[in-house]
Amino acid sequence: MKTLFLTQTQVKNLISPAEANEAVEKAFEAFGKGQTQMPPKSYLFYTPFKGDLRTMPAYIESIKATGVKIVNVHVNNNEKNLPTVMATIVLNDPETGFPIAIMDGTFLTALRTGAAGAVAIKYLARENAESIGFVGCGVQAYTQIDLSVLMRKFKIIKAYDIDENRRNQFLHYVEKNHGLKPEGSNDIKIACNADVVTTTTPVSTPIVKNEWIKAGTHINAIGADAPGKQELESAILLRSKIIVDNWDQASHSGEINVPLEKNVIARENIYGELGTIVAGLMPGRTSNDEITVFDSTGLAVQDIAVAKKVYERALIQNLGISLEILK
Ligand SMILES: NC(=O)c1ccc[n+]([C@@H]2O[C@H](COP(=O)([O-])OP(=O)(O)OC[C@H]3O[C@@H](n4cnc5c(N)ncnc54)[C@H](O)[C@@H]3O)[C@@H](O)[C@H]2O)c1
Repeated sequence: MKTLFLTQTQVKNLISPAEANEAVEKAFEAFGKGQTQMPPKSYLFYTPFKGDLRTMPAYIESIKATGVKIVNVHVNNNEKNLPTVMATIVLNDPETGFPIAIMDGTFLTALRTGAAGAVAIKYLARENAESIGFVGCGVQAYTQIDLSVLMRKFKIIKAYDIDENRRNQFLHYVEKNHGLKPEGSNDIKIACNADVVTTTTPVSTPIVKNEWIKAGTHINAIGADAPGKQELESAILLRSKIIVDNWDQASHSGEINVPLEKNVIARENIYGELGTIVAGLMPGRTSNDEITVFDSTGLAVQDIAVAKKVYERALIQNLGISLEILK
């Protein structure tokens, strides 16, 4: 038996944004129906090197997909010409445990995060949403926009980044690739005045103010994915319907972790999990006026679902290198 090895370039060519959205939506549905196994992420800390390593296992029975993502965050890696975040996904055969594929998961991490944002927009944003605002224009912003545009007919893009060059590059990309019209200046208040607001910064002190968020907005809070991180003023959460990807992860490390820790909000303030809504077990948005917040921390089921899709495609297209790993 052989194990298929796939590089980042090969992975990129094997899955489209629409396919990623579909795979991740199905993963959320299976998760919502309780048809998955997903133990909590486990962490190793390399404190002297300012880094950590996380393992993220999952099993989605309905699509016979199982495996583990191994992902690091090393904040000083730029000095060594390496990305801050690098991921590897090992896919196994659930019947035998055999490692059927080992692939780069770095691009897939950004892709599946974009897909989670897109699925949240599908179920939570107003049907007539036309403008999308970004706070933070780094790596995640690109996959968020690429996958979000498939869910609503956005016409206007607004953006803010402390690094104005990054903002300008992002707006240029969005206008060129998706035809959205850039509006406003590099002003966070303007970026937050949109039908959908996507936040993708690594901040630990909230930067999005309550007074800037109008009724009917949907917010994808993507940036907070570790304890202590928070992008939105807690007052926003108090007037919003809060949807998390997973209570255990979000309460530990998502947008809600600090407000929970400070007792500004409690578990009763959380409406539910996105998977439950996708599975049709509870409604998503129920009025045009409500503010909805999706707190994304990133689930292993998202990674394994997109990796399985990539693997199936690679077999059809005969891509990658197969090696007898047990030899
Ligand atoms: N939810 C998830 O599943 C998930 C997945 C991957 C990454 N993340 C998180 O998303 C965040 C962004 O990741 P990335 O890969 O895009 O990083 P990145 O470094 O590529 O981009 C971050 C951007 O935020 C900007 N920024 C920083 N501080 C800011 C501030 N105060 N105001 C405005 N802009 C500011 C930076 O200039 C940069 O352009 C990180 O916190 C990361 O951990 C979450």
